[in-house]
Amino acid sequence: MYTLRSFANGFEYIEVQNSVAHAKIALQGAHIFEYTTEQGALLWLSQTSKFEAGSAIRGGIPICWPRFGNLDKSLPQHGFARIFLFELIKVEELNEDLTQVHLQLKSSSASKKIWNYDFTLDIVFHISETLSISMRTTNESAEEFLLTQAFHTYFQVQNIENITIEGLEGVEFLDTLTGTKKVETQALKIVAETDRVYLSVTKDIYLCEDDREVLIHAENSNSAIVWNPWIEKCSKMSAMQPEAYKEFVCIESANAFDDFKIVKPNESYTMIVEYLTQRN
Ligand code: BG6
Repeated sequence: MYTLRSFANGFEYIEVQNSVAHAKIALQGAHIFEYTTEQGALLWLSQTSKFEAGSAIRGGIPICWPRFGNLDKSLPQHGFARIFLFELIKVEELNEDLTQVHLQLKSSSASKKIWNYDFTLDIVFHISETLSISMRTTNESAEEFLLTQAFHTYFQVQNIENITIEGLEGVEFLDTLTGTKKVETQALKIVAETDRVYLSVTKDIYLCEDDREVLIHAENSNSAIVWNPWIEKCSKMSAMQPEAYKEFVCIESANAFDDFKIVKPNESYTMIVEYLTQRN
């Protein structure tokens, strides 16, 4: 079953309920902000997040597109897709356990003022016991364009100090807080502000807690970002309560920094992510 709903201010989202999962996806940004199965809630959502036109939801999975980060000063941080309204193309209940939701953003005079290219961006969600999302970029311009992008996933955690992130051992990363490159030597624990871009990621990543493990599988993505603002930055961030840093970690599957893509005219590029939760 699915329903198109809206908040009192008209901000629209799709609510999906099938036999194994419950999800909410905003039309603005093709932004999933709730996904719950019998394994519990996967995604963190700020209690003070706004749901209003033109401001990104704080939590869930923001789509960073056509840029990740703020290296390209000609575009807003993390691009503009997260604040643009997508069109709902189709919801298909493929079976009682699986609902597919397809949202699309096409270039418009508003997008061309920010980024002067013709494009179609298709986001397709598979809502089931696992959550999988594909992000397909089609270049409809006469010239090629450069693309960086990410699924900026906020994972809900019981206590940030008790998590371990596995699968990045041996991978080089750029520590954006210091501007230095290092190689990860062991499973990662978050004990301070963390903002790292891992390059040449080829394996699955695991977010581990005492009683839960989330497998993060990405395709056509060779970079991943691990981010937590910790105490000081958290207290200054928009739509975030001061203690919120304890409740989430962002592990973002991306094409970022050296993992940028060039999309030629009439060509498409698709990045996919899948999350599988298991209870111990
Ligand atoms: C992360 C970046 O991806 O997003 C951080 O690595 C940034 O540097 C964070 O602070 C949140 O960004 P925003 O624009 O959603 O506040």
